[in-house]
Amino acid sequence: MKNVLVIGSTGQIGSELTMKLRREIPGGVTVAGYIPGAEPKGALLESGPAEQADVCDAKQIAAIVEKYDIDAIYNLAALLSATAEKKPLLAWDIQMNGLINILEVAREKRCAVFTPSSIGSFGPSTPHDNTPQDTIQRPTSMYGVTKVATELLSDYYFHKYGVDTRSVRFPGLISYTTLPGGGTTDYAVEIYYAAVKGETFVCPIAPGTYMDMMYMPDALRAAVQIMQADPDKLVHRNSFNIASMSFDPETIFQAIRKEYPDFRIRYEVDPVRQGIADSWPDKMDDSCARAEWGWKPEFDLESMTADMIMHLKEKLL
Ligand code: SER
Repeated sequence: MKNVLVIGSTGQIGSELTMKLRREIPGGVTVAGYIPGAEPKGALLESGPAEQADVCDAKQIAAIVEKYDIDAIYNLAALLSATAEKKPLLAWDIQMNGLINILEVAREKRCAVFTPSSIGSFGPSTPHDNTPQDTIQRPTSMYGVTKVATELLSDYYFHKYGVDTRSVRFPGLISYTTLPGGGTTDYAVEIYYAAVKGETFVCPIAPGTYMDMMYMPDALRAAVQIMQADPDKLVHRNSFNIASMSFDPETIFQAIRKEYPDFRIRYEVDPVRQGIADSWPDKMDDSCARAEWGWKPEFDLESMTADMIMHLKEKLL
């Protein structure tokens, strides 16, 4: 992995991953791909090249790959789970038609491809506790349908055409740089913003709803590490369970209250998000990622909370 195209470079993951790749891959170039209305700004714009890169425009993607001699694509364009329920056709178009465009370009130009999967690729019939790497995947959300299909299509391109596709199933991702939007796990980001701003947090997810979550630095390390892993050691490819912490709204609220004793929470459960959350695992088993490419998280709820609060104080106050 030397010359990289990040599609969706201004999103929650892309904005930080692009900067990390530019810092960590010497001698290469990382292109920040964006769509109109989501142009890169500031350090993201100034630290390297940026190109309009719409997953639905295969010719545009192929031209960028050609221009920069791209050998790896991070395909991060997606609608998150709650938005995908509102706009299922658009979610399908971006996540599936977009993916096949990328995979076709990768097949022709010999690029590796990372397209994230998610806890959303599981459904109500999946074992929820210690969800195994290989298990039932019958999701009931459009987001989940596209994520399972992403895993299958990515494996198909690997087996049929030798395209070097690899991926992880991300938990809900928590970060202070760029807000997520339209996801079921977004509450675990928004709760920190409320605490630091001194506001009561209105929580759309019911207490007792456990989901896997992860702090962004761990997620970024996973995204880079999996693409640099020794292919001979990979039994799986699309996609690996990765985990670091699992909590419900009450647990994260109490962790934040240690720093902000007056912090308050009120529950106004959103039935769409709650239905999705109930269908997802409580906690995934990530032993295959640990064994096959050395995955190991660094942050737990306590250390993440301290780091989030420190950075949000700098950002918001
Ligand atoms: N964070 C995503 C969502 O909530 C799941 O991968 O939609």
